[in-house]
Amino acid sequence: MALKPTGLPPQAALDALGEPELLELVRTQPLPEHVAIIMDGNGRWATRRGFPRVAGHREGVKTARAIFRAADTLGLRYLTLYAFSTENWTRPEDEVSTLMSLLERAIHEELPELMSRNARLRVLGRPNGVPAGIRRGLDHVVRETRNNTGLNILMAFNYGGRDELIDAFRALARRVQAGELKPEEISEEHIGRALYTADIPDPDLLIRTSGEMRVSNFLLWQIAYTELWITPTLWPDFGPAHFYRAVAEFQGRTRRFGGV
Ligand code: FPP
Repeated sequence: MALKPTGLPPQAALDALGEPELLELVRTQPLPEHVAIIMDGNGRWATRRGFPRVAGHREGVKTARAIFRAADTLGLRYLTLYAFSTENWTRPEDEVSTLMSLLERAIHEELPELMSRNARLRVLGRPNGVPAGIRRGLDHVVRETRNNTGLNILMAFNYGGRDELIDAFRALARRVQAGELKPEEISEEHIGRALYTADIPDPDLLIRTSGEMRVSNFLLWQIAYTELWITPTLWPDFGPAHFYRAVAEFQGRTRRFGGV
């Protein structure tokens, strides 16, 4: 890592850097192409302050916007945000409905900035089961931004990693049934191309906030060789400096992809 020699261990040297220095530092090294984030801790952030959980989600939307800008400033190609899982429907009804309206409004309000930054929105997840209003809103922004060539924002919405694999295996089974493909021909490429992320490279780095040490059914196939970076910081407290720090630590790691 191209840190100036300070005599400090690398972590402590990074601790001494603020957002502009971290940004400058990560720009001197090869960037990850795809960063995925499990945005966790909104509820705890609110509860610790004596606010209702939805206040945390409201702050969480602001963080998502700040990280979109940071990823664009950095020149990343792909940023995946885990916005709503298939399991999240089991939360209390008022939390789910507030979350839906927050996400709907955020997507609508973000369109001008997506356009001005030449960013493209795509959605990963099952369209069935998504409320009609939010589905229309998402489809609209996806359509409007489809020719943009800058940062790709992949919003995992009504997403489940196992559901994604089930959908892929069903699609492949249909091709086998139709005689287009033999079972013994099925390769990693066939499975990869049957996923929601068909033409998208696997994440290089997966960030999870709020300290939980789990993958939570996120991009199960795609993260086989992804570097994990977990911070105790809750999502509403996460900012561009944390994001650049994660990228800086990623740049200091050696990826072996199962080799030596
Ligand atoms: C985790 O907090 C967050 C979610 C359930 C997803 C919602 C995310 C946002 C509102 C951020 C905005 C996203 C976009 C793409 C605009 P939690 O409720 O699981 O927190 P807890 O673990 O502390 O309960």
